Amino acid sequence: MTNDADDKQRQLEQYRVDMEGSRLTTDQGVRVDDTDNSLSVGERGPTLLEDFHLREKITRFDHERIPERVVHARGSGAYGFFQVYESLAEYTCADFLCDPSLRTPTFVRFSTVAGSRGSADTVRDVRGFATKFYTRQGNYDLVGNNMPVFPIQDGIKFLDFVHAVKPEPHNEIPQAQSAHDTLYDFVQMQPETMHFLMWLNSDRAIPRSFRMMQGFGVHTFRFVNAEGRGTFVKFHWKPTLGTHSLVWDEVLRIQGNDPDFNRRDLWEAIERGAYPEWELGVQLVPESDEHNFDFDLLDATKIIPEEVVPVRPIGKMTLNRNPENFFAETEQVAFCTANVVPGIDFTNDPLLQARNFSYLDTQLIRLGGPNFPQIPINRPVAPVHNDQRDGYHQHMIHQSRTSYTKNSISGGCPMSGIVSGDMSGVFKHYTERVDGNKIRKRSPSFEDHYGQATLFWNSLADWEKEHLVAALKFELGHVERRYIKEKVVEHLVHVDHGLASQVAEGLGLTAPPTGTPNHGRSSPALSQANAPRDS
Ligand code: HEM
Repeated sequence: MTNDADDKQRQLEQYRVDMEGSRLTTDQGVRVDDTDNSLSVGERGPTLLEDFHLREKITRFDHERIPERVVHARGSGAYGFFQVYESLAEYTCADFLCDPSLRTPTFVRFSTVAGSRGSADTVRDVRGFATKFYTRQGNYDLVGNNMPVFPIQDGIKFLDFVHAVKPEPHNEIPQAQSAHDTLYDFVQMQPETMHFLMWLNSDRAIPRSFRMMQGFGVHTFRFVNAEGRGTFVKFHWKPTLGTHSLVWDEVLRIQGNDPDFNRRDLWEAIERGAYPEWELGVQLVPESDEHNFDFDLLDATKIIPEEVVPVRPIGKMTLNRNPENFFAETEQVAFCTANVVPGIDFTNDPLLQARNFSYLDTQLIRLGGPNFPQIPINRPVAPVHNDQRDGYHQHMIHQSRTSYTKNSISGGCPMSGIVSGDMSGVFKHYTERVDGNKIRKRSPSFEDHYGQATLFWNSLADWEKEHLVAALKFELGHVERRYIKEKVVEHLVHVDHGLASQVAEGLGLTAPPTGTPNHGRSSPALSQANAPRDS
C-alpha cells in the first residue's frame, strides 16, 4: 500500500498559517502596536491618512468577497481518497484506474444549483457532486450531479435555462429553485426538459444527506486504452449508505430549523469518524454499439437503462477529512470537465463540449485570472512544467532563460513528448474521424423527449408517484399564468395520462385526451427496463 492518498495533504501543509500565539503584524510583516484605535490628531480630531494599518484593515475587508459561482454557488467540500478494485487496463490507460494498490487523493464539493451562497440546503433542486482526483498523471475532474439526466441537450441553451431557473430579474424571487412562471415557461417551450422534470419533482430532488446521494457523470465519456481503443463510459457514484430522501413535510420543518442541514450532517459525520463512502461504477459500451440504442448516447437528457447495460462497480471513494478553511478550499476549488488525464476523453455530446469551454472561462473571472490552478486546493500533485508565464497572482519563480518550446538555448526547458521522444504517460487526444457540413441542426436521434420520462414514471412505487404528483401540483400551483400550466399538462399527457389527469385536477384544469401528436418514438429496449433504482 502506498501513501499516495496523503500526497495532497502533505502539499497543503506548506500553506498552513498558524495564528495561535503569534504576534499581530501588517501584511508586510511589521508588528502592530494598537489595532483598536486609528491614528488621529488629538483624542477627538480627524483620522490621518498615513495610518497604514487602518487603511490596510479597511481595504482588505472591502475586497474580501469574490463573485460566487454563477451556478452551484452553495456548496460543501471534503477530502478523501479513491481506490480502484482491479485494473481497468483493458479499457483505459488512466493510471489511477489501473493500479489497485494506489490510493488517489480526492476533493469533493457537493452543491445546490440555483440558490445563492447563503441559501438553504434542503430545497427542491439538483445537487452537484464534483470530484477532483489528484492523480499522478495530473488532475482529473468528474463534475457530476445527483441526477443522471440534464434538462437540455445543447450547451447553447444553458444561459436560457439558468436564467429561467434563477430568481426572476425584477424582484429576485424566488431565491432557490422552485415554482415560478419562468422555469415552467421554459419547460413548456422546451419539451426536452420533460425527463429531467420528472427527476426534479421526485424525492431525488431533496436528498436526506450528501452521504446518501447518488452521483452521475451524466454525459457519455470515453475510456481510451494503451492501444488507443475507445469505449464509451457513463459514470455512477453509489453511496454505501443507500440513497435516501426527505419528504416535503420534513423539508418544511427542517429548512426553518437548520438551513445548513446537509452541510452540518456531512461535517459532523466526518468529524466523528463516520466516513461516507461511494462505489464508483461504470456502464461500458463498445464503440461498435454506438447506434444500437433507440436514443442517442450523446444526448444528456437520456440514461442508459441499467437493465440494458449493467453498472459495473470499479472502485470506492472514502471522504475522511474536513477542509480547514472554507474559503481557501471549498470556495476556491475550481472543477472543469476539460480536466482529463490520459485514458479518459470526451465525446461529441453538445452539452459536454460547451461545458469544456464554460468552466475555465468563468473561473478566469471568479478566481481572478489565469493563475488559479496555482491556488493550493487546485494544484495538482503531479509536477507542472510549461512555458505559461506571468499574469495576475503569479506565485511561481520560474527558473530558465527561455520561456518557449521548442528552443535550442536552455537545456532545462520543458519538452513535450514529441521533442523528448518519451511518450510515456502523455495525453493524446482520441483519434476520431469526423466530417460533415457546418449546420445548426440536431440529429433526429435526439427527438424523443417523452419515452424516458414515461420510463421513469413507470419505475416509481405508488407512494413515490404520489409524492411526484403532489410536487407538480405544488410547483405548478405557484405558477401565475394559466396557459403555462395548461401547456405543461399537455406535455405530461405524453408522459402518462394518469399523471397528467391527477396534476390537472389539482390545478382546476382538464388534461387533454391522449392521441395528441407525440414527439416521442417507441422504445423497445426501454419498455422492459427501469430507470436507475435506489441502492
Ligand atoms: C458549476 C456551467 C452543465 C455540474 C458550473 C459553473 C458553471 C457551469 C459556469 C460554475 C463553475 C465555477 O464557477 O467554478 C455549465 C454549463 C453547462 C453545465 C455551461 C451546460 C452546457 C452541467 C452538467 C452538470 C454540471 C450537465 C452535471 C453533470 C456542475 C457542478 C458544478 C457546476 C457539480 C459545481 C462545481 C463546484 O462544486 O465547484 N457549471 N454547467 N453542470 N456544474 Fe455546470
